[in-house]
This record gives sequence, structure tokens and C-alpha cells, in this order.
Amino acid sequence: METITLGQNGPSVTPLCIGTWAWGDKLFWNYGDDYGQEQLQEAFTAALEAGVTFFDTAEIYGMGKSEKFLGQFLQKTQQPVQIATKFGPLPWRITGQSVSDALTESLKRLQLERIALYQVHWPFAFLLSQETLMNALADEVKRGRIAAVGVSNYSAEQMRDVHQILAARGVPLAVNQVRYSLITRQIESKGIMATARELGVTILAYSPLAQGLLTGKYTIDSAETPSGARKIDPRFTKEGLQKIAPVTSLLRSLGEKYDRTPAQVALNWLIAQGNVIPIAGVKTAQHVRQNAGALGWRLSEDEIKRLEEVSRPWL
Ligand SMILES: NC(=O)c1ccc[n+]([C@@H]2O[C@H](COP(=O)([O-])OP(=O)(O)OC[C@H]3O[C@@H](n4cnc5c(N)ncnc54)[C@H](OP(=O)(O)O)[C@@H]3O)[C@@H](O)[C@H]2O)c1
Repeated sequence: METITLGQNGPSVTPLCIGTWAWGDKLFWNYGDDYGQEQLQEAFTAALEAGVTFFDTAEIYGMGKSEKFLGQFLQKTQQPVQIATKFGPLPWRITGQSVSDALTESLKRLQLERIALYQVHWPFAFLLSQETLMNALADEVKRGRIAAVGVSNYSAEQMRDVHQILAARGVPLAVNQVRYSLITRQIESKGIMATARELGVTILAYSPLAQGLLTGKYTIDSAETPSGARKIDPRFTKEGLQKIAPVTSLLRSLGEKYDRTPAQVALNWLIAQGNVIPIAGVKTAQHVRQNAGALGWRLSEDEIKRLEEVSRPWL
């Protein structure tokens, strides 16, 4: 499988990342009701079988459960896997030492000595300055516990600032993980995409299927209703689904041409933007297999343009 370098000289990873927010999470997702540990183990195995070996997690997903599951599943394979996790700058974390301590705990749950990527989950860091935060991360790169540094939910300007702080330590900013899909394109209009290209920062696109909406399974006529917190998301109401119908309908018709599903077309469009790795959230092996089918083929330039045009209201 083709690989992509994170940032300028970070680790090589697959062009699709597996998202594990739902692994153990009951606050937003429905862990324990419609899927459990067995399905997650199968999903992990299916990813490795498909050659997709890049996983995204965070210490807060399932309050540590997501990292723990990955740790357990990793014990059962010899295949090299790249793990990205995240540090939450919570109000009581005010020193560089708190970064190091949080990483120690994440590594314990993951049962690893080092990881490919460590990301700051959101930019607002209370009393912990970006200076202290970035220097603590640079220290961890030098110490060898993380191969690359990333941020998440940072604006173009915030990305530029931390890029500079890290550069003074000789450490490149490898990624900015942001929400990006055909119906959330603000990173293009807000300069994040352009700044990332200029600085050599890879974009990791989270919620690339708009939390299931772009799979085309939630429609006005279908009996399928979303579980968990999505029940109160206006995008999943009749009006919300009506609004996105032109996008899902084009995804469906392009999919028919290639014998692909709407989800595969939606992920393929993101990959076609260049410098973008979608993180598709999964709960089952079936999700994994289907999303892996977004790789190994390419929409034509004209089709990429048609999807761009139909999704302009979401820029
Ligand atoms: N940095 C951040 O602040 C942040 C925020 C959010 C997410 N993330 C990361 O990004 C990842 C993905 O985001 P996300 O989970 O919000 O959204 P997503 O990837 O757009 O949607 C995931 C959901 O869509 C459905 N789905 C996925 N593949 C499918 C398929 N092939 N067929 C049918 N349904 C499918 C599943 O839910 P149902 O089957 O229940 O519909 C799945 O849980 C997360 O796991 C996490 O790693 C990061």
C-alpha cells in the first residue's frame, strides 16, 4: 500500500486512518449497546488485513478505554502499527511535567514505549502556555517517546504560532487534525488548508463521513436512525437530511459508476484534495472493510469538481 509521510519528516502512514472515538465511549456513541469489545477486536483485525495500520485515539475517548482496547489488540499482532493519540490541556494541567505525565499514562494504556504521533486535542490551554506545551512536546521527541508532534482544532494563525515555537527546537509541526468532509469545508474557507500546505503540515480530517451522514444510510425514507448523541443533532432531522440530499445523491450516482458506496466516494474525494488523511470512525469490521475500499482508485478530475460544486454551501 502507498504510504504518506506525516508533515515534513514524520513517520510513514497509510492514506486512511481508523478513528477509535467510539471504542468504549458511551457519552456520545453507544458502546455496549449495539457493539462491544468483540466487534472492536474484529474491526482492528479487519483493518490490519486490509493493510490499514494507522489508528487515531485520545486519552479522553471512553475515559481511557479506547487506548486500552488498542493496547490489548496490539498485543496480539506482530504487524507494525502507527498510533496517534492526544493530550487534553485540562485546566489543572499547568506545567510541562503534566504533558510528560499524561503521555506516560497513555503509553501504559497502549502498552507501548513510543507512538507515531502525539497531538494537542484543542487549542485552549487555560494556564498552560503554547510555549510550555510545545517545548514539552519537543522534549518528548528528543526523548524518543513520540515520533512526531501534532495539534488538533487549531486555526491557521494558531498553527503558524506553534509551528514557529517548535521550529526553534528543530521539531516540525507534523499535523493539524480538524473537522473536514464534503459538508464541513470551513478549513478551506478559513485558510487552514492553505496554511497547512505552506508549512508542510498534513491535515488529518476528522468526522470525514459527517458522523455517518455521508454513508447515505440515513435518508428521509430509510428506517435507519442514528444512535447516541446524534439523535439530537439537527443535521439528522428530516430538514437536515433534505438539505444534504443533493450531496448524497451525487455520491450515490458516482458510486454506481465505480461500483463503490457513497462512503467510499466521500473518502476518496477527501484524499483527492492532497495532503489530507481522512480518519474514518468505525465500530465494526464491516465499516472498516467498506472504508478501506476508498483506497486504490481515483475519481476523475471532472467528478472531483462536481462534488466540489455541489458542496459549496458548506464552504
Ligand atoms: N480531534 C477531534 O477533536 C476529533 C473530533 C471528532 C472525531 N475525531 C476523530 O475522528 C474519528 C472519526 O470521526 P467521527 O467518528 O466523529 O465521524 P465519522 O468518521 O464521520 O463517522 C463515523 C460513524 O459513521 C458510521 N460509519 C462509519 N463507516 C461506515 C460505513 N462504512 N458504513 C456505514 N456507516 C459507517 C458509524 O456510525 P453508525 O454506524 O452508528 O452510523 C461510525 O461510528 C474519531 O473516531 C476520532 O478518532 C477527532
